[in-house]
Amino acid sequence: MTDKKVRVKVPASTANLGPGFDTLGMALDIYAWIEMGICDQTRIHLFGDQMQGVATDKSNLIYKVAQMVFDKAGVVYPELEISMYSDIPLTRGLGSSASAIIGGMAAANALIGSPLDHDTIFQMATGLERHPDNVGASLFGGLVVAFWDGERAEHIRIEPSDRLEVLVAIPEFQLPTEKARGVLPQQLSLKDAVFNVGHCSVLVAALSSGNLDMIPRAMKDVLHQPYRAALIPGMETILREAVQHGALGAALSGAGPTLLTLVDRESPRKDELERFLLDTLGKEGISAKTMWLKPDRQGVRVLTDFDINSTLFENIKGEVRA
Ligand code: HSE
Repeated sequence: MTDKKVRVKVPASTANLGPGFDTLGMALDIYAWIEMGICDQTRIHLFGDQMQGVATDKSNLIYKVAQMVFDKAGVVYPELEISMYSDIPLTRGLGSSASAIIGGMAAANALIGSPLDHDTIFQMATGLERHPDNVGASLFGGLVVAFWDGERAEHIRIEPSDRLEVLVAIPEFQLPTEKARGVLPQQLSLKDAVFNVGHCSVLVAALSSGNLDMIPRAMKDVLHQPYRAALIPGMETILREAVQHGALGAALSGAGPTLLTLVDRESPRKDELERFLLDTLGKEGISAKTMWLKPDRQGVRVLTDFDINSTLFENIKGEVRA
């Protein structure tokens, strides 16, 4: 590797938040770190329990998105040394592939002097994922409201309320996004479309204005969650009853299987809610891990303050969750 190497830190994300299918995303404070440098023969090193089964050759997603950035910038660096450590569970609905795409693109861009701006990276990443919710959140941080028309993605970033906390229950099984998208209908009734437009609009207004009291009524969906419920035993009960156990609202996180609840930081009922999520999944024979998270406000960042002679893991070990 040449002396020049860069490191980035990129957050996980949750998509949809109930009614905002392919539209709403929020960055979460679980992270992946990527180091990238130019070298004479490609080497990819993966660290952390979440990396099992991830490719370490040129079919690696981070390697591929780095090459897309170089192509776009008109430079050629076919051989890269990449190291990655991730705390983001794979294929669980917490945006692990979006964070790899955004982290890989941001690292490659930084490596060549940052010729691409955030909008260019957003367009490239959305084209790859084919929906802007997870990539937008990992890139910009906070809450992102976005659409993609097949050519361009547009977004507005919202600063999440300080009172907003997130409790996720992450089942032990994986659910590929293609499978969770494959169960969705191709057509919806006008009634269901109006239901989601209304609930999503009010949810965005509630989140933008900090009107958390509206979340329990607005965070409802008939577009994707009812169809996906059969894939996640216990989900229907959690979505229906989490508010009665102290949540502001509950949703499937992205394409699942993780279940997400929004919680008021001041709530005295956090233990009750956590117990309810684990018991409900447990009754269905599903083991799950809960995590208390906060919105990440910054999105992907290029790290400037690191010791070039230390390994990536040595540099981040105070921050990782493992
Ligand atoms: N909006 C996407 C979905 C997120 O629900 O399928 C998963 O990548």
